[in-house]
Amino acid sequence: MTTIDRSRLASLMKREQERFVNEHSKSKALFERAGKSLLAGVPMNWMRKWAGAFPPFVREAQGAEFFDVDGKRYIDLCLGDTGAMTGHSPFATVKAVEEQMRRGITLMLPSEDAIFVGEELQKRFGLPYWQFALTATDANRFSIRRARQITGRSKILVFNWCYHGTVDETFITLQADGKARARRGNIGPPVDPSVTTKVVEFNDLPALERALAPGDVACVLAEPAMTNVGIVHPQPGFHKAMREMTRKFGTLLIIDETHTICAGPGGYTQAENLDPDILVFGKPIGGGVPGAAYGFTDETAKRIAAKDNLEDCDVGGIGGTLAGNALSLAAMRATLTSVLTKDAFDRMIPMAERWTSGVQQVIAASGVPWHVTRLGIRAEYLFSSKLPKNGTEAHDAMDFELERFLHLYCMNRGILLTPFHNMALMSPSTAKEDIDQHSRVFRDAVKVLTQPTVAPA
Ligand SMILES: Cc1ncc(COP(=O)(O)O)c(C=O)c1O
Repeated sequence: MTTIDRSRLASLMKREQERFVNEHSKSKALFERAGKSLLAGVPMNWMRKWAGAFPPFVREAQGAEFFDVDGKRYIDLCLGDTGAMTGHSPFATVKAVEEQMRRGITLMLPSEDAIFVGEELQKRFGLPYWQFALTATDANRFSIRRARQITGRSKILVFNWCYHGTVDETFITLQADGKARARRGNIGPPVDPSVTTKVVEFNDLPALERALAPGDVACVLAEPAMTNVGIVHPQPGFHKAMREMTRKFGTLLIIDETHTICAGPGGYTQAENLDPDILVFGKPIGGGVPGAAYGFTDETAKRIAAKDNLEDCDVGGIGGTLAGNALSLAAMRATLTSVLTKDAFDRMIPMAERWTSGVQQVIAASGVPWHVTRLGIRAEYLFSSKLPKNGTEAHDAMDFELERFLHLYCMNRGILLTPFHNMALMSPSTAKEDIDQHSRVFRDAVKVLTQPTVAPA
């Protein structure tokens, strides 16, 4: 088995850091200027975590590529961490947004586009009633509130090492002794998350049953396959059993398709015939224009209607002034009609297969104990030889230093991977040449890591 020499990794990382700084003088100057007006020099906290000494500042993006202010071109396999899975600035969305911009952006009144989008989501996911939010985080938060409202229960349940956006209740992990605690890095939690949340391992049906049995859990909030700690696939029968169990104990099932929409036009739910009570879909739904949707079954909608009080509905903690605005809905309508279509998925899936096979060949030839896996148009490698069956196994396989090196090595050679894990996403514009370029760069990166005589290209 091939192992990674840590001192070599450190010296290779130093060389990549120097190259990045030397080749990005304009981004460096902007970062220094940004430090005087933006907290930590970035508009959003996570942007600090890119593998270079500072993030490249973007000049423009189109389709599957973007250019930074230093004039460097990147093949974008990050795609705004799924927000731009449609490719950057897809023509149909841009056209609809340009037209809507001139006709009013936000009104606190509905437009016909909202009905069109609701009808389209019905067809894709099978749930009849829909609401809109600006982010998937909000759609998850509002779904949880609805679940609490109609069940009268306070707790929720999530899977260990899940991510569902910045939802307070979800930042909880299991310790080795089986007890739950706040997730490392959880900033300013309102309460200890074990007050609000139960957490079990994905694919662990006996633990799920034990957690649901007391009858105090309003909802399970789950990605159908985990995508935020590497990809963790459900084991055969897991979804069927989870659905039966949630019904048995009166717990609602919320399926978060925000990332697993990568499985196809109707997400994992359509592909695998899932049957959630509530479904959430955000990020790429508007081609990158902020927007998210959450849908309900007929029965869930009836239970909500029975509890809702008209006089209080503007202050009940669900909604948002800009949610369901005309611009977002115009973007969603165009994106669903013309961009995230079945034809687009039919083109994207072979690209993801090609990426996976390129990475697999390098792993096999080099003997590193890693694996690569795929879900529709999303693919990812992880630093362990076997597929993880739960969040802990996936999390234990992560390697912060190695991951940063591979990201920076790729970035210095014009390829952007999704940060914080080793993920590539395809867009309708991603081309074979882009994929083959990644395979070559990945091969070279693994070579310099594992064969000390090879100099970095
Ligand atoms: C599965 C899942 N749900 C929800 C979210 C939250 O999306 P947003 O940050 O757009 O609110 C994310 C973000 O990565 C996610 O991966």
